[in-house]
Amino acid sequence: MCGIVGATSERRVSGILLEGLKRLEYRGYDSAGVAIIDNAKKLQSTRRTGKVQELADAINANPLDGTIGIAHTRWATHGGVTEANAHPHLSESEIAVVHNGIIENHESLREQLQALGYEFKSQTDTEVIAHLIHHESKTHEDLLAAVKAAVRQLEGAYGTVVMDTKDPERLVVARSGSPLVIGLGIGENFVASDQLALLPVTRQFIYLEEGDVADVNRTSVQIFDSNDQRVERNVVESDGNYDAGGKGEYRHFMLKEIHEQPIAVRSTLENRLSDTTVLDDAFGKGASELFKTVEHVQIIACGTSYHAGMVARYWLESLANVSCSIEIASEFRYRKSYVHPNSLLVTISQSGETADTLAALRLSKELGYKGSLTICNVATSSMVRESDLAFMTRAGAEIGVASTKAFTTQLTGLLMLTVALGKYRGMSEQQQSAIVKSLQALPAKMEEAVALAEEIEALAPDFANKEHSLFLGRGNQYPIAMEGALKLKEISYIHAEAYAAGELKHGPLALIDEEMPVIVVAPNNELLEKLKSNVEEVRARGGLMYVFADKNARFKSDDTLNVLNVCHCDEIIAPIVYTVPLQLLSYYVAIIKGTDVDQPRNLAKSVTVE
Ligand code: G6P
Repeated sequence: MCGIVGATSERRVSGILLEGLKRLEYRGYDSAGVAIIDNAKKLQSTRRTGKVQELADAINANPLDGTIGIAHTRWATHGGVTEANAHPHLSESEIAVVHNGIIENHESLREQLQALGYEFKSQTDTEVIAHLIHHESKTHEDLLAAVKAAVRQLEGAYGTVVMDTKDPERLVVARSGSPLVIGLGIGENFVASDQLALLPVTRQFIYLEEGDVADVNRTSVQIFDSNDQRVERNVVESDGNYDAGGKGEYRHFMLKEIHEQPIAVRSTLENRLSDTTVLDDAFGKGASELFKTVEHVQIIACGTSYHAGMVARYWLESLANVSCSIEIASEFRYRKSYVHPNSLLVTISQSGETADTLAALRLSKELGYKGSLTICNVATSSMVRESDLAFMTRAGAEIGVASTKAFTTQLTGLLMLTVALGKYRGMSEQQQSAIVKSLQALPAKMEEAVALAEEIEALAPDFANKEHSLFLGRGNQYPIAMEGALKLKEISYIHAEAYAAGELKHGPLALIDEEMPVIVVAPNNELLEKLKSNVEEVRARGGLMYVFADKNARFKSDDTLNVLNVCHCDEIIAPIVYTVPLQLLSYYVAIIKGTDVDQPRNLAKSVTVE
C-alpha cells in the first residue's frame, strides 16, 4: 500500500528518496512521485505511473537538485492511476504534501476550498490537505501551526508529510491511523511510513503515536501529542535484522521466502520451548497470569493471517479445551458481537498495521475482553505496541506481497499458544511434550517440503492454461486448502476456490470437468477415508485430480489422478508442512504465466486503509 519517504539534509536528497521508495515497492503501488525544494526555493516535482524505476529514470534524465524532499508510492483509492493523481500534491507552488490513508470528509473540504478559489488538479482526497494547509498558512505563524490547524479539520486516516517553500528546511508530519516513523541522522533527519525505507541512512528511529504532529528539521525534532503537548518519544535502535537484503540466488523474493521457512520456523521456536512444554514468556510479560484465566479465544485477522487463525481454531478447541471463534477483522469491527466471559482477543498480522485488524483491536478495548495478544512479525508495529501481550513470529522481513514464511511462522506460534493455554485447561504433560517434539521436528520437515520444488515445478504447466481451479481439504487442512487457493489467485490470477471436501456434493461438483483441476490436500488421519470418497466423487465426473498426500496415505497416480507424496509428519504439524507445496505450486504457475510474482497487480502488502 502507499509508502512515504521524506528527508531534510545538507546533501542532495533525491537519491535517498528514490532508494527509500524502492524499499517500499514490496508494499504494492501503482504510481510514484518525488518533490524537492531546490536551491532557488522553488518546488520541483516528478511523478510517474508504473514502477519506481520509471520515476528514477525520469529523475536521472532531469535531476531534482535539493536538500529537502518528500516522496511517495501511491496505491489508488480515490481517483484512477494517473500522473495527475500521483503524489506529491502541491498547492500554489508553495506547499507539497504526501499522504497515506483516506480523508473521509474530502468532498465537503473540497467544496469549501473551491469556494475559496483553490483549483483542484487531481481527483484525490489528498489534494484537499495541500490546499487546506496552504489556506491555513495565511493566518498562522508557520508551517507547524498551519498543519496543526489543518489536521484538526480532517476526518479519516492519515499519515502525512508536508513541506513549504517559505520554510525550506522543515518537514511537518502528522499521524492519525497511518503509521509514520522519524529516522534520526547527524545533521539530517528523515521520515517514512516504514523504517525499512530508511535503513540505508539511519538505525535510530522514533515511532510516532496516534494524533502526533512532529516538526522535523535538519538538527532537531519536536513532537506534539494529540493534546498539543510537547512530548518526548523513545528513540529505538533498529537491530538491522529487519533489513530485507536482496533476493540472493533467487529469482523472486517469494521464492527466497518460501525457501527461508525452515530457518524462519527454527527462529520462531528458539528459546521458547523446554523439553516438555512451551514457555509462557514467549508471549510477553504477564502471559501466565492472563492465560490462567482464559475461557474463550476470539481471533481476528485478514487475508492469509485469517487462514492461520482458522487452523488455530481446530487446535485450540481439540487440544487446549478452550472454545474459539474467528472472524475477519472488517466484519468484526462493524457488527455487534457477543463477548464471552474471560475472552482473550488474539489478532494475527504479519505487518501489525492492517487497518481493519488494528481497528478491531482498538474496538476490543471497549468491549470487555480480558486481554489482548497479537501474533505479529513486526516488533515496532502498532498492534504490538497496543496489545497486552505479543508473540513475535521472527520470520524476518517478508517482501513478496503473497505471504509465505509469515504464515507458517504464525501457525507455529499458534500451535505454541495452544500448548500455553492448554496447560491451564487440562492438557496432559504427555500431550504437551508430544506437541513440543512435533514442533522440534518441524524445521526439518519444512526442509523436506521445500525440497519438493522440482517435482512441483513439473506439475505447474497443467495449471497455467486453466482459468479456474478447486482446492479441497478436510479438518485443519481445510484452511490450508483456502490458503493454497488464495496464493494461486494472488500471483497467477487464476480463479481458485477452496471447499471443505464434504461440501463438494452441495454445489461445486457441478463445476467439475477436465478444464477444472482439483487440488486435494490430504490429511493422514481419521478423515483420510472420507476424503478418499470425495476424490472418487470427482473422478467419477471426469475431473483431473492433484492429491498432495502423506506417502502412507496410499494414493496411486493414474490418468486422472496425480499424487505428490509429501513427507510423513505428525498430524499436528501437517497443516504447516503441507502449506509449502501449495506455495510452490502457485509460484511456478505464476512463473509460466509471466505475472509480477512479488508485486501482483492491484494488491498491497500491508493494507493500511479500510
Ligand atoms: C494484504 C496482503 C496479504 C495479507 C493481508 C493481511 O492483503 O496482501 O498477504 O495476508 O494483507 O495482512 P497482515 O499484515 O495483517 O497479516
